[in-house]
Amino acid sequence: MKLSNINKKRIYLFLYLFLFLIVASSALYAQKHTNERAEWFIDARFGMFIHWGIYSGAEGIWKGEQIRHNNEYAEWIYYRNNIDKKEYLNLLERINWDEVDPEEWVVLAKKAGMKYITLTAKHHDGFALWDSKVSNYNITNHTTDKRDIVKELAKACRKHGIKLGLYYSHWVDWEHPYGWDHSREIYPISAKEYDQYWQEKVIPQMQELLTNYGDIDLMWFDMWLHHSESIITKKQLIQLKELIRELQPNCLVNSRLGLSIEEDSDVDFRTLADNQLGDKKLNYPWQSPATVAHSWGYHRNDTDWKSTTFLLKSLISNVSLNGNYMLNIGPRANGNVPHEISQRLKDMGKWLSINGASIYGSGAFDLPKDQHDWGNITYKVTDEGVHQLFLHIYNWPLSNTLPITGINCKPQKVYMLNDKQKRVLPYKHNKVFTKINLPGYQFNNYVSVVVMEFDSKPEITEKLIAKNSDGGYSFTSHNTALKKGSFIDKEAQKYGTIPAHTKIKDRYKSQWKIYIDDPGEYALDISYSYQAKNPGGKIKVKLDNKTIKEYISPTGLTVGEPNENWHIDRFNASQIGTINFTKPGIYKISLQINAKEEPVKFQWLWLEKRKTRL
Ligand code: GLC
Repeated sequence: MKLSNINKKRIYLFLYLFLFLIVASSALYAQKHTNERAEWFIDARFGMFIHWGIYSGAEGIWKGEQIRHNNEYAEWIYYRNNIDKKEYLNLLERINWDEVDPEEWVVLAKKAGMKYITLTAKHHDGFALWDSKVSNYNITNHTTDKRDIVKELAKACRKHGIKLGLYYSHWVDWEHPYGWDHSREIYPISAKEYDQYWQEKVIPQMQELLTNYGDIDLMWFDMWLHHSESIITKKQLIQLKELIRELQPNCLVNSRLGLSIEEDSDVDFRTLADNQLGDKKLNYPWQSPATVAHSWGYHRNDTDWKSTTFLLKSLISNVSLNGNYMLNIGPRANGNVPHEISQRLKDMGKWLSINGASIYGSGAFDLPKDQHDWGNITYKVTDEGVHQLFLHIYNWPLSNTLPITGINCKPQKVYMLNDKQKRVLPYKHNKVFTKINLPGYQFNNYVSVVVMEFDSKPEITEKLIAKNSDGGYSFTSHNTALKKGSFIDKEAQKYGTIPAHTKIKDRYKSQWKIYIDDPGEYALDISYSYQAKNPGGKIKVKLDNKTIKEYISPTGLTVGEPNENWHIDRFNASQIGTINFTKPGIYKISLQINAKEEPVKFQWLWLEKRKTRL
């Protein structure tokens, strides 16, 4: 049966409508998602994760052998190194109980500017850090003076005004005969057996935690798969979640429970993968769990410490996408936090004590995340109704001026966040472009923050390529709003020696928009690789009614790495023309590349007002 054209059109119309409804309803759903009880969490932005338990005594080494996995997760040593259960308990002897004081962790969190703590109440080893009546496999039972770490931590958190979260490994449990352990993939247990573990350990232990320790502000579960890929049933997860709702209605639950926010809007926030930072704005609460080196539990050989700058940037970048950042400490068996961690945390705290306004209670602004090369923007509305944009400068521009592209209105006031006197910074605003004159020296060695204040939400112009802090504009396939033709976008290769580029087989067209604030003569460069013997193919660039045409020349090869016989495409940059902009304004730039014989690998166009012409 052949469909008439009218019928086809009807079907397409129907399909479009259907798709539109799906997209619209999921957008609406995402917007509506934030549960009221999660509001404190959104404002808090920065929390502490604590991995401490029996494994802390092993420090990532068992009988002289380092943990058998290169992710260095020291808390996995029992499983990875196939340790005998009784022997594992011997590690408790390494804990120096006179020194272990959870209040010190809370004080450190406070100094670091963190607003909540999540402690591994029970990690995968199944050992409870509280006085559990459900299983003898708990800390109170194994210490002479009957310590209860959850209780001590809860008390200290309350004393210092820090929210309390508990990590509970619900899926994996290496202690219970029917808990999940990855070797069950080879030696299975039945669903019935697993349910026995669930009903006799998970549920009653959760009851204890939610009844005996006052308010628990969040429960952090840890299953990095969707429940359908695990032995856990949805029914069991719902049972667990309902128990939480019943006993502690204000307690938050994370998505590693095994239920995604999309599937169950009653889940309060999404947890990304370990050490995964956000890459896009989400309209529901989310969080990155992160370590300062690699391991979560203390590991004596794990010393690849991230810099304070990196940690601060991770926090800021997450907040600029509406996210949270939970940074881990792995205290030693005597409770001490490694110097490298505590020092970084205190430095972050110092920065936050001055610049915290840009983090706490702040979130994403409408401009795209990586639009500006100098850093990230966060946004908030103060109680007084002032709309504040916080411009986090990672690279202090040599020119001492900061270009901001895409904001349509003039700010009422511009100042450095750490300047108590709020001295105004001079700026120029023109349509969609603002140029701020920064002080002649960098204000903060990690990240400096400029505040722009408005009396209503600043409108933006979308899809403009921002002026770079060196004064130029960079156009790539990645930042274009429009591209057509026969091409494949390629990622940067190993070591970045082969840069990200677009492989054009036949034809390629692309377009960008810019705002020129500073008219005059600009030079246009292009970078590409072309592996044919002779010139061929064509480049055409149109800008402000001027067309620049050029044949594509062969670029040859280059050595990727000496003596490795690794000879790779050379990407050559050359100037292909100049353009004279006579007045400020928004301009379109369009690029057309026609490849011949061989594909053209286009990398970037670069437009810059410069004195030296090539
Ligand atoms: C993973 C690991 C676990 C760690 C957690 C932190 O799930 O199994 O050891 O506690 O990540 O995010």
